[in-house]
Amino acid sequence: MDSHWKIREAVEQDIPQILNIYNQGIEDRIATLESKPKNLEQMIEWYQARPCRYTIVISHHGEICGWASLNPYSHRCAYRGVADLSVYIDRQWRGKGLGFLLLQELERKAKENGFHKIVLFTFPFNLSGQGLYRKAGYREVGVFHNQGMLDGQYYY
Ligand SMILES: CC(C)(COP(=O)(O)OP(=O)(O)OC[C@H]1O[C@@H](n2cnc3c(N)ncnc32)[C@H](O)[C@@H]1OP(=O)(O)O)[C@@H](O)C(=O)NCCC(=O)NCCS
Repeated sequence: MDSHWKIREAVEQDIPQILNIYNQGIEDRIATLESKPKNLEQMIEWYQARPCRYTIVISHHGEICGWASLNPYSHRCAYRGVADLSVYIDRQWRGKGLGFLLLQELERKAKENGFHKIVLFTFPFNLSGQGLYRKAGYREVGVFHNQGMLDGQYYY
């Protein structure tokens, strides 16, 4: 990795690029149960809505190539130490190690902010996601069946 790579906290000006990368993930049908592209207004609302969310971006020469966010897993007090995560890399930058870098930084953020554990949901057929999480040391705890509806059918 050359020195032009930077990982930092997201700021509001990053939202259009975060949105663009998120919409690629929605379009690709491998990452999320969201089916329709988001618009800028929705993404600003997402960014502003949850004060306990930590969103980071990775950029190269100022261009944002991916982002990741850490969210409280539940509003229930008993789960306050548990976070869940999202990670999205721009199509043209996937498979180059950026997802792994973002995940490592997100884990640092989690520890700093009192989370002792991170959980996530992924489609069984999302090979890059599965590979990334396995490489980072996550373990599979099970597969939900008939759980999430996307395009009129249960996806897993
Ligand atoms: C999933 C995603 C975040 C992974 O990030 P990435 O930068 O592409 O992944 P990395 O290059 O850091 O790869 C990390 C590991 O994942 C695995 N991996 C990456 N791409 C893979 C692929 N196409 N097939 C199988 N395994 C893959 C490898 O084990 C890799 O480690 P290695 O290079 O040492 O073998 C990225 O591909 C992406 O944004 N996909 C679309 C959105 C998405 O699916 N998000 C996750 C939702 S659960």
